[in-house]
Amino acid sequence: MTTQLQAQESNVIWHQHNVDKALRSQLKRQKPAVLWFTGLSGAGKSTIAGALEKSLADQGYHTYLLDGDNVRHGLCSDLGFSEQDRRENIRRIGELAKLMTDAGLIVLSAFISPYREERQLVKDLLERGEFIEIYVNTSLQVCEQRDPKGLYKKARAGQIVNFTGIDSDYQPPIAPDLALQAGEKTIDKLVDECLLVMKARNIIAQDKKLP
Ligand code: ADX
Repeated sequence: MTTQLQAQESNVIWHQHNVDKALRSQLKRQKPAVLWFTGLSGAGKSTIAGALEKSLADQGYHTYLLDGDNVRHGLCSDLGFSEQDRRENIRRIGELAKLMTDAGLIVLSAFISPYREERQLVKDLLERGEFIEIYVNTSLQVCEQRDPKGLYKKARAGQIVNFTGIDSDYQPPIAPDLALQAGEKTIDKLVDECLLVMKARNIIAQDKKLP
């Protein structure tokens, strides 16, 4: 199977189109990037990413938010929560994020993405400086207390298996670009921390893009 796939790959030649990443980014007057939020279920990844996206959109940036629960309804609807499926989930999202940066977008992604290896794989797909890893550091205790979808309760009752933090592994980043103490701070404060890092990395301007 692998040999057949490799043979196929060697007969598929990359086509260089006239409109490229540089031109697409230039038209949008921005630098593409991927803000990769990782953390436990219920940590606040989607909420923070959504609030950050709104702030960026208000400033005139072109963005797209990829959200675990939403993507699993479409592109990854065939995948479950085994280790293998989660790795494939993140691989696909990484490729998608790469295409979106090629389109000149600032991509925000909110996936548990529990394994260091897969997060590194996504980073390696992108250009240097494009991947910003944001660890949404909310304790299991707080996530379980919040339990917004009632999933921790089900996992504790044995109705869901392989639940991250309960009977499935989560590997926190060792050196994230930003670690958010999301259990203790307001959303506005957390968004400000993200914007500061984006400015420090020259992804967004010091002043607002739009007047
Ligand atoms: S990942 O591990 O592959 O990155 P992803 O972010 O796409 O996970 O999906 C996580 C979401 O799926 C959770 O926020 C939760 O709503 C839901 N979910 C359902 N089953 C599980 C499970 N076994 N473990 C974690 N999340 C689950």
